Amino acid sequence: MKNRKVRVVFQPERKEILTSIKTPIREAIEKAGVKINFPCGGKGICGKCRIRVKGKLSPLTSVEKKHLQSVENDVRLACQVAVEGDVEVEIYPLSLISFPKILTDRINRKIKIKPVIKKIYLSLSPPSLKDQIADLSRLERHLGERGIRYPLTDLDLIKRLPGVMREGDFKLTAVLEKQRLLVVEKGDTRGKNFGVAFDVGTTTVVGTLIDLDTGEELATDALLNPQTSFGEDVVSRIDFLQSHPEGLKILQKRIIGAINRIIQRLREVGEVKKENIYLATFVGNTVMQHLLLGVNPTNLALYPYVPVVKRSMELKATDLGIRINPQGSLYLFPSIAAFVGGDTVAVILATSLSNEDSRKVRLAIDIGTNGEIVLAKGKKLVCASTAAGPAFEGARISQGMRAERGAIEKVRLEEGKIEVEVIGGGRARGICGSGLIDTSSQLLKEKIIDSSGRLKPSSKAKEWSSRIIRKNDHNGFLLVEKEKAQDGIPIILTQKDIRELQLAKGAICSGIKILLTCLGVERDEVDEVLLAGAFGSYINPESAHLIGLIPTFPKAKVRSVGNAASLGAIMALVSEKNRKQTEKISEGVDYVELASYPDFSDILTQAMDFGKQE
Ligand code: FES
Repeated sequence: MKNRKVRVVFQPERKEILTSIKTPIREAIEKAGVKINFPCGGKGICGKCRIRVKGKLSPLTSVEKKHLQSVENDVRLACQVAVEGDVEVEIYPLSLISFPKILTDRINRKIKIKPVIKKIYLSLSPPSLKDQIADLSRLERHLGERGIRYPLTDLDLIKRLPGVMREGDFKLTAVLEKQRLLVVEKGDTRGKNFGVAFDVGTTTVVGTLIDLDTGEELATDALLNPQTSFGEDVVSRIDFLQSHPEGLKILQKRIIGAINRIIQRLREVGEVKKENIYLATFVGNTVMQHLLLGVNPTNLALYPYVPVVKRSMELKATDLGIRINPQGSLYLFPSIAAFVGGDTVAVILATSLSNEDSRKVRLAIDIGTNGEIVLAKGKKLVCASTAAGPAFEGARISQGMRAERGAIEKVRLEEGKIEVEVIGGGRARGICGSGLIDTSSQLLKEKIIDSSGRLKPSSKAKEWSSRIIRKNDHNGFLLVEKEKAQDGIPIILTQKDIRELQLAKGAICSGIKILLTCLGVERDEVDEVLLAGAFGSYINPESAHLIGLIPTFPKAKVRSVGNAASLGAIMALVSEKNRKQTEKISEGVDYVELASYPDFSDILTQAMDFGKQE
């Protein structure tokens, strides 16, 4: 009985696997290679990993009873159920992983090139009985004539050196990274000098192929971070690696796999050989950078939140299995604090926020899956991390989803009618961050919620009363009827969802308020507000203003800077000076731990109010 095999069929693709009885469906899904979202990492919190299952299954759990009250009987949560006989599984559209809208836009700025990787062509004098010096010494002698003395090298290069010298008739190109001799290539390979810059986000990974001599961008590509199937936020990923003995290896393998797939695609578009890519730079939040290194980030999530590594890392491509020239180099940005990582250093670099000559007061807000805020006043920089991101990425919102096909991204309420815009057109299957902000602002405008966020139609909002319904013991606003929704499940924004948005908004506003106090700056002294990441690029500024998503800065110019983290990664790729600057930034920015700031909870509560922006 114990070893009895059962058949699990996944529809509509008809993927089929045999597995042991009592196998959790989640394991069967992994085994079959079906791509499904486990937003809370399978902890039973989100209720979004819905599947329709026919066959013999484990009994309904209390978690499922809570989440599946209003759906049909054959719907189950994939993270909760195990197979007890042959079953047929159909994945709900909301549960399927699809490609998100990825932000690749960046501000245009001229980057001064000061190449990190240099190529020097050498025509060596061949050995003779009168000149019997060793091959390596011969190479070093010629490099010395070009002012490069005693370059560091490694055994792999020495092993290949005699072949390269003789096959190329003693004409060769030396590839150097600072004082390190990386590669020797036969003949003249100058002009083929490339690098890749990566922004490794919790949700998306963006890579750019750059000509290192000219700084020209040859191709950009992006993928969903495949670790998302183990949880949408960094805490869920840490939970996953803690509960699976091989978890860390799996997460590292997934991210490196995605990076290598992007490199492959960049090479195809740019028509560049792997051997001619000598350098890769990486920025990410601290947890992502730890996972990329294969270093356990667990202590980052535990008091007192200590990373294993904060400084920058210089490695060989083979150390991590990154598919560029095997002798090529990797540079991982330094971090600032446990939850302010290399991506924030990159944003500071890209926006010149640490420009000591600037007298301006500038504020940068980068909200992705995590949220970071940096305030600069002259030489002083302070930063903080807020838990604002997940709500904007659809996590913790009952029918929330990332900004991908089927997500409601725009909402308008007027004269009793609702207009929704869905990414990719067609029927809606959930709501993303910009849709959430739009809906809340419209509910506020129509007085369906009050400034405290309470969903309670006033006498002025009678035409909307039929849309206020109960869901899971909470009031909710019916956005899309079940007949018009993709899953056949009505799309409702619940009171709890509005609270989540208020928490996110409160986190941003209180973070800003505290940083202003730390530097003794008044709001009307702020000259510029820079919105980095998807947050600044996709939301409707009017809606954001209506709900007071960020405080009002009377004199400040507000500007979206797109994927500034990617730009920072590119800047460090093409300039040694920029790379050095990252170290200065990492050491020079003061981190403020918001949770331990005096009166933080009072400040947060006040900042959650839709009406107040003080
Ligand atoms: S409830 Fe299953 S992944 Fe969240």
